[in-house]
Amino acid sequence: MSQKINKKGENVNVDTNIVWHNQTITKQDYRKKNGHYSGVIWLTGLSGAGKSTIANILNQKLYALNVNSYLLDGDNVRHGLNKGLGFSEEDRQENIRRVGEVAKLFVDSGSIAIVAFISPFRTDRDRVRENLEDGEFLEVYVDCPLEECEERDPKGLYKKARSGEIKSFTGIDSPYEAPLSPEITLHSGQKEAEACADELIDLLIQKQWITKG
Ligand code: ADX
Repeated sequence: MSQKINKKGENVNVDTNIVWHNQTITKQDYRKKNGHYSGVIWLTGLSGAGKSTIANILNQKLYALNVNSYLLDGDNVRHGLNKGLGFSEEDRQENIRRVGEVAKLFVDSGSIAIVAFISPFRTDRDRVRENLEDGEFLEVYVDCPLEECEERDPKGLYKKARSGEIKSFTGIDSPYEAPLSPEITLHSGQKEAEACADELIDLLIQKQWITKG
């Protein structure tokens, strides 16, 4: 992709003739108006680890603190924007790329995007981080042993994966690459979801994304 600056100082993609329009209201303006920082809280982990539950509680807590946040959940996004994508490596990569771009738009709009996707591949998650500015991406490893996830089996999917009814299931016959240096690890096998969400609130205060209220 080659970029060029035109006479008006705009960024032009020479291959597609698509021009980037600078918008008057900036991310900084939105942040100032909202009274808090904007960024992505990215929850990664096995199916059944508790990502959606923790993310949902966190979102409630932020709402109560008057923070503009929105939860992007893998299962839900796959019903709409990412409908039609399956669980091959390529489809998961595209799944993560798209939600990463959507999350970035939320950041631009001054919101905190909470993303709860298995996102099993390190390179896919790293790409999302690189697409954002420094400090805008917090990787949260929701760490729950496979045995525990399988015992919980909230959707009965592990059972189906073990019987071969579902193929390429993460942790069974498709890999999960744990983060190497996440901003935080939540031990959701030992801790209640509520306590995990509180840890995230503390992290957001410590990083000065939000104030105590
Ligand atoms: S990801 O791997 O592409 O990030 P995503 O988070 O969007 O996955 O979706 C995972 C959800 O899809 C799981 O919570 C589970 O309910 C469902 N699912 C269906 N098939 C699979 C599969 N083969 N592997 C993992 N999850 C699956």
